[in-house]
Amino acid sequence: MKISHHIDFLIAVSIVIIAVVFLLLTYQRIIRVNFFIGPLRFSHWLSIIGTIGIAIATPLFTLLKRSFFPSWTKITRFHIFGNLIFFTLITIHFATQVARPASNFPELGTGIAMFIAMDVQIILGFTQRFRSQRRLYKKLININTNKFIHASLVMVFYAVILFHVLHGLKII
Ligand code: HEM
Ligand code: HEM
Repeated sequence: MKISHHIDFLIAVSIVIIAVVFLLLTYQRIIRVNFFIGPLRFSHWLSIIGTIGIAIATPLFTLLKRSFFPSWTKITRFHIFGNLIFFTLITIHFATQVARPASNFPELGTGIAMFIAMDVQIILGFTQRFRSQRRLYKKLININTNKFIHASLVMVFYAVILFHVLHGLKII
């Protein structure tokens, strides 16, 4: 296996670790992201950037993959690192929400559904891209099933996000 593959794995894992650190620091209120910028809190701006990023980068990846784009590796790196960075921004928004005091706790629903679906999608992204070459592993996980579930889970995001934003902003 190429050294660049191992480096990609290290970068991807590092972004996940950074996301977890931000999650914990925000949850413990060591980092504060609930100040206002314009009409919205900073944590909401982060979620908006993360959401728009995933919403645009995912179909763009699909299009580029099927076009004459010369390098599968480059485009897959864009997919993996880009989505992981957008996911980190969304994680900060998630942490601010679940850290709210009991008196002001949000009604968990659409947001939690998307967050769980996205976590599973990311785990399956890892098993898709960085799968072990060992025979036992190959027997345990069918790579086509893995790819199918990984790709399909994005539908949870697209189906729910509009309702989440409209409900969160008290429009519906
Ligand atoms: C994939 C992206 C997102 C995830 C995973 C997510 C996650 C969450 C979670 C877990 C909550 C707690 C309530 C619930 O479970 O529904 C929440 C609340 C909220 N989210 Fe998001 N969110 C995302 C994107 C956004 C975006 C783009 C906005 C736009 C501003 C937004 C605005 C809000 C607001 C205003 C609340 C508070 C709702 C309340 O007070 O009842 N979220 N989010
Ligand atoms: C929320 C984040 C993510 C979303 C929404 C997402 C979505 C998708 C979708 C829709 C596809 C199918 C693309 C196509 O064939 O047209 C795909 C493929 C793939 N994804 Fe993700 N993904 C995410 C994160 C990740 C992560 C973190 C990894 C790796 C660590 C990853 C690795 C892959 C790989 C290897 C493929 C298959 C590429 C190929 O065979 O050509 N994804 N993803």
